[in-house]
Amino acid sequence: MPHHGSFPTTRLRRNRQHEWLRRAVAETALAPADLIWPLFVHEHEASLPVASMPGVERLSIDGVVKAADEARSLGIPAVALFPVVEGKHKSDDARHAFDPENLVCRTVRAIRKQLGDTVGIICDVALDPYTSHGHDGLLRDGRIVNDETVEVLCRQAIVLAAAGCHVVAPSDMMDGRVGAIRRALDGAGGQDVCILSYAAKYASAFYGPFRDALGSGGALATASSLGVADKKTYQMDPANGDEALREVALDLAEGADMVMVKPALTALDIIHRVKQSFGVPTFAYQVSGEYAMIQAAADNGWIDGKKAALESLLVIKRAGADCILTYFAPDVARELK
Ligand code: PBG
Repeated sequence: MPHHGSFPTTRLRRNRQHEWLRRAVAETALAPADLIWPLFVHEHEASLPVASMPGVERLSIDGVVKAADEARSLGIPAVALFPVVEGKHKSDDARHAFDPENLVCRTVRAIRKQLGDTVGIICDVALDPYTSHGHDGLLRDGRIVNDETVEVLCRQAIVLAAAGCHVVAPSDMMDGRVGAIRRALDGAGGQDVCILSYAAKYASAFYGPFRDALGSGGALATASSLGVADKKTYQMDPANGDEALREVALDLAEGADMVMVKPALTALDIIHRVKQSFGVPTFAYQVSGEYAMIQAAADNGWIDGKKAALESLLVIKRAGADCILTYFAPDVARELK
């Protein structure tokens, strides 16, 4: 006599039997439109690999224009630009940040000239590439001063908008900067420029390779060894979740069009809470250290890098991200095509 009663009537494995069936019941799918490609631009013609980010290179302006065109053809909606600023342009007052002839402004103009509005251009608003000490804000007596920094950020946002960038992305974590930048842009003919606020940006160990790429790590280390300000005085403590929601609420009230959570894999709960609580366009940044971990393990033959990249991006989307900044963008978009 078979023991019918002792077997489950609901068998969740039934829907996992075939590839077509798994695809049919999948709750989340990744598409090229979910990805934004961060690009490093430098003043040199030859591209220069970033040692701690295998597969990522610092590109010339022409190289960035080509990459942006590739993004467009792959269906990646936008690129995010990060300039490698030469030492002679770094100063205590970060004045090169609002020089309309700086590298990132020239790059924006070159992309717009070639590609118009067919691919989005996102530019960071923060002073770290331009300060001699590598901090995102101005330093006075060993402290990062908020309101003076915000004034410089506004000038930076205005020149970026004038150069033709579509989205300014304040990544500095100063208080009140979103509202101030919105007013500054509106007063300078930049009403149509979007603000993507790095609303919940954590003080994270996972930004290391990015600072290598930009060459801001060394200066920061020197600054901190001298006992001066730490990024922890403006970026968020990874211990905190409720505070991330307060950051997002403030940035939205000040006029942010989209908000970002960063890093991604160490903040999946935050991505989820932000999306659930506010229902606004929520971006996540899979940062340099997250990329480096996957690449390093893959290069050692310890994990399948391609699968790990796809899985990590899929779960960031499942958590609630509408769009993900990731150095895997071109490879994954090619894979998805
Ligand atoms: C600078 C900035 C950082 C990143 C994006 N914008 C570094 C930092 O705050 O120190 C990190 C991106 C990455 O690690 O990929 N404001």
